[in-house]
Amino acid sequence: MVLTLVPLPSSVTTGPGAFVLTPATRIVIADGADAAASALSDHLAELTGLRPETTEGEPVAGDIVLRATAAEDEAYRLETTDRVEIAGSAAGLFYGIQTLRQLLREDAGSWTIAQVSITDAPRFGYRGVMLDVARTFFDVATVKEFIDRASSLKFNRLHLHLSDDQGWRLQIDSRPLLTERASGTSVLGRPGGFYSKDDFREIVRYAAAHHMVVVPEIDLPGHTHAIGLAYPGVVEEPVMNDMLLAQSEALGQPLPVAGEPYEGWGVGHSSVRIHEESTWEFLRDVLGEVAELTPGPQLHVGGDECLGTAQADFDAFIERVTALTVELGKTPVAWHEAGSAVVAEGTIGQFWGSDAPTAEHIEHTLRFAERGGSVILSPSTRAYLDMKPSPEDPLGLSWAAIIDLESAYAWEPNAIVPGLDESAILGIEGPLWSETIATLDDIDHLFFPRAAALAEIAWSPASAKDWASFRERVEALGSVWDAEGWGGQRPTPTEGSTP
Ligand code: ACM
Repeated sequence: MVLTLVPLPSSVTTGPGAFVLTPATRIVIADGADAAASALSDHLAELTGLRPETTEGEPVAGDIVLRATAAEDEAYRLETTDRVEIAGSAAGLFYGIQTLRQLLREDAGSWTIAQVSITDAPRFGYRGVMLDVARTFFDVATVKEFIDRASSLKFNRLHLHLSDDQGWRLQIDSRPLLTERASGTSVLGRPGGFYSKDDFREIVRYAAAHHMVVVPEIDLPGHTHAIGLAYPGVVEEPVMNDMLLAQSEALGQPLPVAGEPYEGWGVGHSSVRIHEESTWEFLRDVLGEVAELTPGPQLHVGGDECLGTAQADFDAFIERVTALTVELGKTPVAWHEAGSAVVAEGTIGQFWGSDAPTAEHIEHTLRFAERGGSVILSPSTRAYLDMKPSPEDPLGLSWAAIIDLESAYAWEPNAIVPGLDESAILGIEGPLWSETIATLDDIDHLFFPRAAALAEIAWSPASAKDWASFRERVEALGSVWDAEGWGGQRPTPTEGSTP
């Protein structure tokens, strides 16, 4: 039997039997697992048409039992006997329910759950996905759909890339022109948009209900052309040098013009004015409001691709912006280039180099650990969900790699940055940049099935890694995703497989 489980649990044994969902099945809440019960009941009703009664009585054969424990971790146990019992903290119960959702199969008109005994806990505490809502704006409903998909694979961080050259996406009361003047466009003439503070709170609430913590990013000091549409005094004139001219030519896209929306996707031509105190007043106001809106512990301040900025200026900026972030009560996160600077103690670095990184990328990444921080691994040759899955795919870019499902799966976090100890690896993240995607269908197309590979790397024990097993399980999971109405690609069936 192929167990349709991704990520693979840390321990799973199977038996010959199966639990059958019937109209008599109840969800029995033990020790206050109410939130989990209502989410499960809604899911079962939607999928099967059966809405089990939710009760606090004594469980009997045929029931689904949710038992809340006092644990504060993400572990859970799921056992199928003559009933199904899931036990864990609130997060653990949520993950147990995601496992149950993957196990539910329709078989000759009945819904069944294979006989299993599962003990499960994640390998890494940070299991992220990133959505770039700056290059292309995605509305709240689409972000919620993205959360549904990601949380079903046990991802627990939603990194939102909220600002870039192409647009500013979050209401800031102290600087209202950001959304009034700098949010109206996206790349290639696509519509823009922004989140009001209430929209953002709704995303945070929905994410939290799915056990995902939002990590907002304001990309600095580069990727800031859009700020100049609203507050020209905060940014430098667009940088123009041979490298940037060549880039514009290679992309076949026009050069950025000060004060005009930029709809291409060249990088490295913009910067805030690093040595002006008025810039720092702006940043204190903006980052202060973002920090206040964000219940999660982390605030991402960017730091990537400042190609026209002198190293000393860049380092001075990073030192000060990470210190400011700490002052605002958040742990700074920054792309790995920021490791060239004296980052604030505890700053988290996000590595986005290749899986054969340069000496400089390695050195910068190790700095975060040396300064008491940790590292999120997003190797662009493996974990970038915006890379094409095949050379002929109409969506995605290919500057880092073509990443097929096996390539997305066949890497080990410990082996990416030489010298980085596993204890300094906070986790991994799959960024989905949005230069080539405009709709939820496009998101699904690049997300499925490769996000499942990243989910397994983030959650499952390294010792369980097995491409053939993963390939078979992810193939069988396609029907679960189909039943959810989720799009995207499915692996072509392997010979002799029985999904
Ligand atoms: C990045 O891809 N510029 C982080």
